[in-house]
Amino acid sequence: MKTIDYQVEDGVAILTIDVKERTMNVLTPDLIKDLRSALEQVKGDDAVKGAVITSAKDSFVAGADLMQMVKAYDDGRSAADKYKDSRSFQSLLRDIETSGKPFAAAINGTALGGGLEICLACHYRVAADNPKSVLGLPEVQVGLLPGGGGTQRLPRLIGQQAALQLMTQGTHVKPAKALEHGFVHAVVAADQCVAAAKQWVLEVGDPEQPWDKKGFKIPGGAGLMHPGSIQTLMVGSALIARETNHNYPAPIAIMSCVYEGTVLPIDQGLDIESKYFTSLLMDPVSRNMTRTLFINKGAADKLVRRPQGVEKSRVSKLGILGAGMMGAGIAYVSALAKMEVVLLDRDRDSAEKGKDYSRKLLQKRIDRGRTTADKAEAILERIKTTEDYADLEGCDLIIEAVFEDLGIKADVTAKTEAVIPETAIYASNTSTLPITGLAKASKRPEQFIGIHFFSPVDKMPLVEVILGKETGDRATAVALDYIQQIRKTPIVVNDSRGFYTSRVFGTYTNEGMTLVGEGVNPALIENVAKQAGMAVGPLAVMDEVTLELGYHVAQATEKALGDDYAPNSGFPVMLKFVEELDRRGKRFGKGFYDYPEGGTKHLWQGLADVYPPAEVQPTAEEVKKRLLYVQALDTVRCLDEGVITHPADGDIGSILGWGFPPYTGGTLSLIETVGLQTFVDECDRMAEAYGERFTVPDSLRERAKAGRGFYDETDGAEARSAA
Ligand code: NAI
Repeated sequence: MKTIDYQVEDGVAILTIDVKERTMNVLTPDLIKDLRSALEQVKGDDAVKGAVITSAKDSFVAGADLMQMVKAYDDGRSAADKYKDSRSFQSLLRDIETSGKPFAAAINGTALGGGLEICLACHYRVAADNPKSVLGLPEVQVGLLPGGGGTQRLPRLIGQQAALQLMTQGTHVKPAKALEHGFVHAVVAADQCVAAAKQWVLEVGDPEQPWDKKGFKIPGGAGLMHPGSIQTLMVGSALIARETNHNYPAPIAIMSCVYEGTVLPIDQGLDIESKYFTSLLMDPVSRNMTRTLFINKGAADKLVRRPQGVEKSRVSKLGILGAGMMGAGIAYVSALAKMEVVLLDRDRDSAEKGKDYSRKLLQKRIDRGRTTADKAEAILERIKTTEDYADLEGCDLIIEAVFEDLGIKADVTAKTEAVIPETAIYASNTSTLPITGLAKASKRPEQFIGIHFFSPVDKMPLVEVILGKETGDRATAVALDYIQQIRKTPIVVNDSRGFYTSRVFGTYTNEGMTLVGEGVNPALIENVAKQAGMAVGPLAVMDEVTLELGYHVAQATEKALGDDYAPNSGFPVMLKFVEELDRRGKRFGKGFYDYPEGGTKHLWQGLADVYPPAEVQPTAEEVKKRLLYVQALDTVRCLDEGVITHPADGDIGSILGWGFPPYTGGTLSLIETVGLQTFVDECDRMAEAYGERFTVPDSLRERAKAGRGFYDETDGAEARSAA
């Protein structure tokens, strides 16, 4: 057997899983085949009383091979074939638990998804008290359900309510918590795990699962007539509907499996599970989420865009120019990642104010018991505040976050380059000014780069790296290494106005404002956006970033582009709000919303007088299409113009950067989900109805004609990585 070492000790077969080509064990076809062979061997050997399943790696089994899941979506095989595959893994596990011989799982480390399902099919589960180990059924996070019997065995072990909570949230728990829940029988010291499992086989060795015993009842009850069960399912499905707006089919499918399966014998329950599993596998949501948020995000985290041949770097001393909102956040995440930080502002007080931000966040962590006062103090000690450029001496990397002003930025660049080592990399956190232009103030433009953070820095997972015309490979590599050090996800884009994220996000707020200008009910706009899964409605977000800022950016763009400048379709609304109505956004107390002191914000009532409601309102579906498609189209243009160079960056950037709905898989995956030709036809119609921002790029038209998806060139996903 390729993936299982089979040894017999004292009449107990010890099956040690080791999928050699992977850093963590995953359920490859080889492993499944080998488990079947091992089972037959145990069954057929009278000298073997029972078996222990464990792993040769630090973790037990980390779950399914996600790359295969992505491919399963459009591999051309029928639903019937997919259902058969899913049944075959289930029947292997069912054969283990009905083999007549006792099986014990020695869970030496992390057991997730299919890995935990193997354990649940064993008659006894002992987990190692390993601080790194977690147990759970996280399939919902990739749009799937536990299809190896998890939806049937877990509620039979710990009751519907607890099982549903774990499965619909995809929660991971530590071994001690799993013991409390009751889905492991014991937790022992790591070096005792296999011995404890073996001892159970020899001394107890009950080869029958509770649900195969006569008179078995689900803990806490099940079925339509059981008041507790009905309460759980009714409240649960309402909560899920509220949280997901019906955009995610997996949590509801999990509830259906539990509801339908627990009133039947387990074999029928498993059959129901397979049917729902197959339906999810064929739904684009699971393909979308797995491809973008696991496989390609995983590859981005491993720095798939890092130029080859540049030596790995580590920032030990970081200089930050400007201790405002962004500088303060960058200082915090960098000090947390053990870097020495020099936080510089115009005067010491301003720099200290920036450091106060870290003090505040660390105090919160102490209050929540997430860190100790000593550790917090050590982090704060790493942040040195200053007004003196000489303190930047010895920095490996500088991140500039001063006011968004070309002159000020040029001035601080010159002052900084006078003191930092010649090898240091200099990055700007500008949100709108092209990097190539900013690099003109630098003596070393090949060491000049954009590192664009999102606000609030400590919460937002994405960082956009922007390459200026002259940016060299070493600058890119250092920027990426730094982002990995602070454990964020990078995308790499080429220089252009608004780069990738701000540019495409701008099409969303612009469409929202355009709809307002057409007299579309603002509540319809905001609610449809949220129902479609956008993190925030376009008008609310415009208020957050302030209409005034949008207005200034438009002015700066006009200045830079001269005759080439054409105002966006939503600009007249912005102009009216800023210049005539003086409603400049949340910070100013009023914008599209009112912000009553001590009360909750609400849409501004007077808006209907300024933009009287159109007699015929568009359907919710039409508003949704306008808000989402406009972003998808502009992402295609970014790909065409080389602003982004890989579809994965477009997809990851949209979800992690500005809250494009995860179920879509990102702006480009949305187009594949809708269907390329359908998308093109709809945009043609919308271009006619609403204007040329919906004009379909030729590249997309050709792609649709050829039936070629964005990822076809990259083999369904960007890089292979074990789940
Ligand atoms: P901010 O106004 O909160 O902070 C700017 C800081 O720079 C202030 O503390 C100011 O005293 C300091 N400063 C100004 N001139 C200076 C000089 N000559 N020398 C030293 N320090 C100086 O601004 P914020 O929001 O932190 O933005 C900073 C940069 O980050 C801007 O380029 C902005 O476009 C960019 N950015 C902002 C985002 C946001 O959401 N606010 C998001 C991403 C980028």
